[in-house]
Amino acid sequence: MCPVGQAETMRAMLILGIETSCDETGIALYHGERGLLSHTLFSQVAMHSEFGGVVPELASRDHVHRLLPLLGEALEQAGVSRREIDGVAYTSGPGLIGALLVGVSMGRSLAWALGVPAVGVHHMEGHLLAPMLEEDPPDFPFVALLVSGGHTLLVAVQGVGRYTILGESLDDAAGEAFDKTAKMLGLGYPGGPVLAKLAGEGRPGRYRFPRPMTDRPGLDFSFSGLKTFALTTWQQSDQSAQAQADIALAFQEAVVDTLAIKCKRALQQSGLKRLVVAGGVSANKGLRERLALLGEELGAKVYYPRPEFCTDNGAMIAYAGYLRLKAGQGVPLAFGATPRWPIEALPPLD
Ligand code: KG4
Ligand code: ZN
Repeated sequence: MCPVGQAETMRAMLILGIETSCDETGIALYHGERGLLSHTLFSQVAMHSEFGGVVPELASRDHVHRLLPLLGEALEQAGVSRREIDGVAYTSGPGLIGALLVGVSMGRSLAWALGVPAVGVHHMEGHLLAPMLEEDPPDFPFVALLVSGGHTLLVAVQGVGRYTILGESLDDAAGEAFDKTAKMLGLGYPGGPVLAKLAGEGRPGRYRFPRPMTDRPGLDFSFSGLKTFALTTWQQSDQSAQAQADIALAFQEAVVDTLAIKCKRALQQSGLKRLVVAGGVSANKGLRERLALLGEELGAKVYYPRPEFCTDNGAMIAYAGYLRLKAGQGVPLAFGATPRWPIEALPPLD
């Protein structure tokens, strides 16, 4: 990061946000005073579902096709022209290298062409800050539970860029566990939302899955054993539609319960009374219900992004980029992507 030396003049900047880290192309325009002006999204789900998961090369190629039309739509919706953009923010990691490079190269080039600063945004910081786009945003400090397809993180957040990881998944991320279990149950890709819907038809108490790593102290997670447990349970069942729903419910309850137990520990250990939950799995209704109970029990408030900003989107990248560009943290012309990037490596805003 290098200072661009224009922080003072950038308070009410219009920032273009670009997200291409995985299988969603997201574009958004965020204005320092007027807030989020527009956002557009294209999901590649239909394309990848044929293959049962994300095909990285296809993802990259599709981002190339979608970016400029989505940008045109976002500008039109916001009623602004390209020339009014004051800075460009793009996801530069973590994620799929080819997919990331599409957004990075397009975003950095566009910023150069427009003569405005650019910044590479950490995808998980985007998720973490997404609830700030809502009407009642959380104050710092808070505990964040980030649950996506690639990461499960419990983070103590003192401010933007002041992150301490309290716990993380040692194997599969929570969303990944949903997706893999769904695949095993024949529910296709992406399985998380489908499995969650099916869980609604499950009978409570029919099966009980373990709550991994809750019988010992610590805040790390391990979800990979749950998919094996689900497979064994499925193989031993009558493989009826009802058994499928019962297993979906028992699996979801195990993940939700495990996440809630660790959130409780994190809140108690840190003494914090605010919990931010973000990333694709934060859209899960069962998780929201369980964390609402936890919030009541501990006198803590739980914050979420709106459902469409739980999963990948350009708005969270535009907002995180706005904060970093406002602080003068633009990047030089050379660009690159960082497929593996610990969130603790980010600098604070000041
Ligand atoms: O944050 P996200 O859109 O992408 C990554 O950064 O990975 O998260 C996607 C993940 C997928 O694994 C998807 O199955 C999961 O979030 N997901 C859900 C739900 N909606 C999305 N998992 C459980 N219940 C849901 N309702
Ligand atoms: Zn994500």
